[in-house]
Amino acid sequence: MKVSRCVLFGVAVTIVHSRPGVKRALNDATILNYALTLEHLEATFYQQGLQNYTHEDFLNAGFPDPFYSNLGKVASDEQNHVEFLTSALTAAGAMPVAQCTYSFPATDIRGFVSLANVLEGVGVSAYLGAAASIANKTYLTAAGSILTVEARHNAYLRAALGQVPFAQPFDTPLDFNEVYTVASPFITSCPSTNSQLPVKAFPSLTMVPSGNVMNGSTATLVPGPGFNSTSNSNLSAAFVTITGPVWAPLKPIGNGQFIVTIPAGVEGQSYIVLTNSMSDVSDDNIVAGPAIVEVELM
Ligand SMILES: *[C@@H]1O[C@H](CO)[C@@H](O)[C@H](O)[C@H]1NC(C)=O
Ligand SMILES: *[C@@H]1O[C@H](CO)[C@@H](O)[C@H](O)[C@H]1NC(C)=O
Ligand SMILES: *[C@@H]1O[C@H](CO)[C@@H](O)[C@H](O)[C@H]1NC(C)=O
Ligand SMILES: *[C@@H]1O[C@H](CO)[C@@H](O)[C@H](O)[C@H]1NC(C)=O
Ligand SMILES: *[C@@H]1O[C@H](CO)[C@@H](O)[C@H](O)[C@H]1NC(C)=O
Repeated sequence: MKVSRCVLFGVAVTIVHSRPGVKRALNDATILNYALTLEHLEATFYQQGLQNYTHEDFLNAGFPDPFYSNLGKVASDEQNHVEFLTSALTAAGAMPVAQCTYSFPATDIRGFVSLANVLEGVGVSAYLGAAASIANKTYLTAAGSILTVEARHNAYLRAALGQVPFAQPFDTPLDFNEVYTVASPFITSCPSTNSQLPVKAFPSLTMVPSGNVMNGSTATLVPGPGFNSTSNSNLSAAFVTITGPVWAPLKPIGNGQFIVTIPAGVEGQSYIVLTNSMSDVSDDNIVAGPAIVEVELM
């Protein structure tokens, strides 16, 4: 067992890493700050979107009533989550992280709604992945009550975009580093007074072309900066799911890029990683990703 210690807001945090494949256990205050980091991001995202676009813009873009007022409700839910987590941390004697500055790639209303949908899906996966690490049952129940609301937002947005609202029988838990990998590109900078979360981003992974893919079809996977194609010559691709990895045939095409075939067994918002393992997926063997992929059934 490998145990390392670091100090956050004066509270010693023990990171226990008992065997490959087991997610790191963080203490509750750190997990609440991790959740708060994501809620700040979401709250700011909706606040900006509702500033950028009017009720009429949504109608013109094909999102009929009551979409706009429901989006206002979603925005207020996220703000409530921020306030709730901030209070819980303060009550527990921990320092809550403050809002950061963000950069969102959405450039039109449909892009905004699509990104909202992706962020809600990541939120669901983040709370689900963190659940097993939460020690205090009061916090676990609170996190569960946020998770179900994020799932409602996600289903509503999926339906508004013409996607199956609940594409799969199980949602996918993502661990802290996997979530940070997909969330950190939106975070430009944070106040220096924010405690550093003990999370790291893997090299990014992008699927080209972006957009929906069907099972049985192929797409290109492009790893981002930090990916070393020399030391990673024999990789596998896997979708992370609750029932274990769903492996996807992978073919290197040079230039550090790969062709992947989308396997059967994943649907809806799905997460693919490159790994140097052939048997499991964990922080110890992920070399790039997750990439977020919307899979439609053929
Ligand atoms: C809102 O508009 C600003 C200015 O164009 C842009 O920088 C920002 O990314 C937009 N935010 C969202 C969520 O669409
Ligand atoms: C769990 O958290 C609640 C709320 O902060 C607190 O009242 C309770 O004492 C904690 N329980 C344990 C076992 O630490
Ligand atoms: C796509 O997935 C569906 C449902 O699992 C399956 O019936 C079908 O055979 C798959 N097609 C391909 C080409 O993988
Ligand atoms: C990439 O990996 C190779 C082989 O392990 C190593 O020699 C090289 O220094 C690495 N490059 C970078 C930029 O880390
Ligand atoms: C890649 O890994 C697999 C499984 O470990 C092994 O069977 C295969 O020989 C490896 N291929 C290369 C080119 O190293």
